[in-house]
Amino acid sequence: MFREKFPPEHLPRLYAEQASVITIREVFDYIRRFKNHLFVLKIEDDLIGHALFPSLMKDIIRLHDAGIRMIIIPGTRAAIERNLKSAGIFTELVNGVRVTPGEAMPHIKLAAMEVTETLISHMAAGNLNGIMGNWIKARSLGVCDGVDFQYTGEVEKIRSEIILKLLDQDFIPVIHPIGLNSVGDAYNLSSNMTASAVCMAMDVSKLFFIGANKGIGYTGLSIPKGAQLHADGFFSNLDPGHVQELIRLNRPVISPQEMEYLEIALAVTSPNNRVKRVHIISGREEGSLIKEIFSSIGGGTMIYSNRHAHIRKATLDDLAELMQLLEGYIKTGNLVMRTREEIVNYIDSYCIYEIDKAVYGCGALFEITSQESDKVSKYGEIGAIAVNPSYKSRGVGQGIMEYLIRLAKKRGLTRLFLLTTRASDWFYSFGFVNACPGDLPGQRRESYNRHRNSRVMMLNLCE
Ligand SMILES: CC(C)(COP(=O)(O)OP(=O)(O)OC[C@H]1O[C@@H](n2cnc3c(N)ncnc32)[C@H](O)[C@@H]1OP(=O)(O)O)[C@@H](O)C(=O)NCCC(=O)NCCS
Repeated sequence: MFREKFPPEHLPRLYAEQASVITIREVFDYIRRFKNHLFVLKIEDDLIGHALFPSLMKDIIRLHDAGIRMIIIPGTRAAIERNLKSAGIFTELVNGVRVTPGEAMPHIKLAAMEVTETLISHMAAGNLNGIMGNWIKARSLGVCDGVDFQYTGEVEKIRSEIILKLLDQDFIPVIHPIGLNSVGDAYNLSSNMTASAVCMAMDVSKLFFIGANKGIGYTGLSIPKGAQLHADGFFSNLDPGHVQELIRLNRPVISPQEMEYLEIALAVTSPNNRVKRVHIISGREEGSLIKEIFSSIGGGTMIYSNRHAHIRKATLDDLAELMQLLEGYIKTGNLVMRTREEIVNYIDSYCIYEIDKAVYGCGALFEITSQESDKVSKYGEIGAIAVNPSYKSRGVGQGIMEYLIRLAKKRGLTRLFLLTTRASDWFYSFGFVNACPGDLPGQRRESYNRHRNSRVMMLNLCE
């Protein structure tokens, strides 16, 4: 039938069109998912002279236009090196950290200003308001292992309330790595550590390190089991377990720069923080930033917080906490009534999101085999998704949904469906689409409660 309708010579074009439709849909889904999210972009200053730098800045402007909020932290190492060299000042690097003598500070401040102004003028060319300011309280790094770091500082506090106001007014704050102490003395800060401090202080969902390298390289390293590799010589996906193992196996041979990326990624994706992903990408590749955000392919190394590590199958020992969690939402009408007996009978279908023995959330996947006109289909119903009100909006619900979708795929289910009264917008972000009661498998169609009138949503797992 398909062949009759579309002769073979038309197929390549058809497939290409199909692929571009899928890509366009994927982009729309990502735009919806990331609208109003806050991203931190740390951009190395040695990219500034590169032919693709204007294109990177234009992509940042596009992201802003798509509703993504951003803070930019410029790296200033190349400009500092240049300024110090022309002033004839030598500074020492200890484990990748610069010792900053007082005489170097004016040149370092000037370098930070120059880089920041360049970024802001690129944004201005695209009608975007970048704004530079000092929103970091800093203190001296002091003496470490006998080395006096002099005017090298560390972040004491990020004045996030001011930054938030600027973001609300549509500005892109550019935070250069110079901090002031309580009496106004300036300190030279690490831009990576500044980016990390901003992620810890604010509700950031993604942190990007944009530099010359495509990602964390693996050539010559011992590779942790399960880490995903890209043929071009860098890791593509790592979870915190892989990162810890990578550091343990290779500490002496990993460069200080990459070690800093890895350690920051571990810190900011820990369960106490909200960053879900850290991306290390090259600014010398056309479109690397938007590719990383708007496609599932990506082009660099992504380190993701492993929320699945906290999810396990429920047991009868969890019954009391599980019921308590569900009851709260049953009372408010968010969840359908489930008796103790029903939960006990299906306890193997439930999962628990647990950290330090506390239940943060739960969910369930019920398998349903349906036979209609000789066709057997394996469906899964998602239900009982609930997050403890004290832990909402920290990615717990997302972790549970991703876990259940993965589980359904592993079990060879072809379609997932769910009934919801108040959370349909949330389920769109996982690819669910609206359906109607008539689309439900036989027995669920019959038991559909028309009085409750829940929305039906479906996710096709075979696409
Ligand atoms: C819906 C629920 C499971 C989300 O869990 P969560 O851990 O808070 O969600 P995540 O952290 O993964 O995602 C948070 C995002 O989802 C959004 N969100 C939360 N509940 C939502 C809802 N009902 N509709 C639309 N968006 C919702 C939040 O605004 C937040 O957006 P942001 O990241 O842009 O700030 C949770 O709010 C809950 O337990 N709700 C009550 C029970 C319920 O309705 N379950 C679904 C029954 S079918």
